[in-house]
Amino acid sequence: MSVFVITIDGPSGSGKGTLAGKLARHYGYHFLDSGALYRLLGLAAYQADLLQEPLNLPALEHLAASLDIQFIVQDNQGTQILLNGQDVTDQIRTEEVGSMASKVAVIPSLREALFKRQRDFARAPGLVADGRDMGTVVFPDAPAKIYLTASAEARAGRRVKQLQDMGVDAKIDAILADLQTRDKRDMERTVAPLKPAHDALVIDSSVLTIDQVLKTLIDYIDSRY
Ligand code: C5P
Repeated sequence: MSVFVITIDGPSGSGKGTLAGKLARHYGYHFLDSGALYRLLGLAAYQADLLQEPLNLPALEHLAASLDIQFIVQDNQGTQILLNGQDVTDQIRTEEVGSMASKVAVIPSLREALFKRQRDFARAPGLVADGRDMGTVVFPDAPAKIYLTASAEARAGRRVKQLQDMGVDAKIDAILADLQTRDKRDMERTVAPLKPAHDALVIDSSVLTIDQVLKTLIDYIDSRY
């Protein structure tokens, strides 16, 4: 059976994580949260004290190649994520770890090290792949590609709510500044910058509800079979 791949790329807070999860459930497909892989590598590099300048590239590359990661899908409770056997499910969602992720994400050889791990998620009957370069680099032949965006203010507001729901105290100004720094780093890097694939459906979700976007995406994906 061939594997149908749906890619969803976009900046953080665009709603792509939530929508990717809903699409994976709707179609009964596997799910790749590629941001989690970069977050895990960023956290592992930080824990090994490898984020200090000047960067020790060989040590970072060794770390990326030997990263011990487990995604444990749990009924109704999302996915538990283990790094070297430790549960880091909540820890990797913090802004600090997001920033660590975007630091390692600018290094070409580290992206290369994560490339095959990401491709391995494509298994029958299909995959929903969420990230920054899913449609442009990792799955360039995917039949359905989506680029989801929203204004920086709308995205920061959503992130604050998400963090507050997790019991984390979050201030909108700090979140907005952090998000803009991360967007800039993701969009301006030379390797796999964040941008829509030339053949992607581009949607601005600033003033749309999740259900409105979901319906548009399902109509689009169904037309791509
Ligand atoms: O999507 P998420 O916010 O979890 O991603 C964290 C960081 O990982 C991003 O800001 C980006 O720097 C990096 N990333 C990437 N390519 C991907 C997914 C994430 O560079 N496919």
